[in-house]
Amino acid sequence: MSDNKRDQDILIDFTNSLEESIGPQHGISPADFASIEQATMETHGRLQKLKESGEIGFFDLHKSDTKPFKKFASRTREKFENFVVLGIGGSALGTNAIHSALNSSFHNSLTKRKRNGYPKLLVVDNIDPDWLEELLQTVDLKKTIFNVISKSGTTAETMSQFMIVVERLKKKLKGKWKNKIVLTTDGGKGVLRELADEFNLLAFDIPNNVGGRFSVFTSVGLLPLACAGVDIDSLLKGAERMAQRCAASSIMENPAYLFGALHYLADRRKGKNISVMMPYSSKLYSVADWYRQLWAESLGKRYSLDGKECFTGQTPVKALGATDQHSQVQLYVEGPHDKITTFIEVENFSRTVTIPKLFEEKEALKYLGGKSLNQLISTEMKGTEYALTSHNRPNLTIRLPKINAHAIGQLIFMLETATAFAGGLYGINPFDQPGVEFGKQFTYAKMGREGFEKMRSELEEKTANAKRRTI
Ligand code: PA5
Repeated sequence: MSDNKRDQDILIDFTNSLEESIGPQHGISPADFASIEQATMETHGRLQKLKESGEIGFFDLHKSDTKPFKKFASRTREKFENFVVLGIGGSALGTNAIHSALNSSFHNSLTKRKRNGYPKLLVVDNIDPDWLEELLQTVDLKKTIFNVISKSGTTAETMSQFMIVVERLKKKLKGKWKNKIVLTTDGGKGVLRELADEFNLLAFDIPNNVGGRFSVFTSVGLLPLACAGVDIDSLLKGAERMAQRCAASSIMENPAYLFGALHYLADRRKGKNISVMMPYSSKLYSVADWYRQLWAESLGKRYSLDGKECFTGQTPVKALGATDQHSQVQLYVEGPHDKITTFIEVENFSRTVTIPKLFEEKEALKYLGGKSLNQLISTEMKGTEYALTSHNRPNLTIRLPKINAHAIGQLIFMLETATAFAGGLYGINPFDQPGVEFGKQFTYAKMGREGFEKMRSELEEKTANAKRRTI
């Protein structure tokens, strides 16, 4: 292993989650780790089997062929002003997270030249009528390409966005509307796949063994990211590097298993049922948003693998350093002992911004002059870490040498594997989402979808008998 490779590795510093730092009541002890040795071995074996059998596909996505995405990106690059993702949840959050981390925070405000010719990227991720209408009023439809992303090909939010957009395109462009649509969906099933075939629309496949929230390294994320100018090869190289590190079966050698184990133990043995993710970087805030979905949807489960009710899951919370020091940290330091906090630290920001030596006669400002924002944000992170630790609040730090595609690839893959591993420790299936499906069924029934008549009449009966209480 070359030193250069190791220098690029992300690291987890978990000192402050241990008993030796924050005491036995809140800190994880060697005995706690020992208590999950058997479960770790079993989970490792199960994950290996899921990977080798091909039942779960996210483990191997770093091997994806990126050529088709880069080819499409080079075709759209000069041609389009806007690339709009129509999708929700796992079809949107990963793209947003990686785009926000790696492209300029003001990508969409830059001139085309400053964007290196790449289009602006907009990710819809909702069905707010005002927001969508504002978007459609703002973009020039002739210069916009819409990427409709839905694994199931039936999600009401995405399909509604799609139908609205198609109608607008047809009005404006008549028969040429098809040139402005690219679909990303399951290779063999779903209504989106049927439409692709029927209307001869360009479509990219999502492997059927990869679920929405684990899919950012498939066409779901790689296509829009390539079109927005992200180096998707380096991203996958980072994922590959982390996959090598995550091949280890022992918690102390495998960063993902360590992350999963710390959170599981903090929850189950120390009552920390909230997982705060707090990057000290605005550019990484959307990674915390993506993690929120991954952790919540994967681990929040009613039934264990043996069919018994278990009601598992930590509530993930996103926070931003230093911003939330002035909003959330009071609660984290002195409120209930129910949280484990993960900081994400950037060792080297791309830029150094120096605070000028101004107003030196003012004692309260003089100390800042000549220092950098880099020093300030790093000191503030250390301050929050210190405050939490000295109040016996477990915390850990994921340290990125810098924000680049390689580091983000590692981070994403590590958190995905950690989620799968934590699922094993909890004894639940982290790859399904019956609660989400339940909500989808409700929408289908209430909105009049065929085949949902029984559920509709049950719901109508329930609502007819329910007393609403309002003031
Ligand atoms: O992670 C998941 O499975 C979900 O969040 C889905 O991504 C989300 O519900 C959208 O589903 P689909 O891609 O089928 O439209």
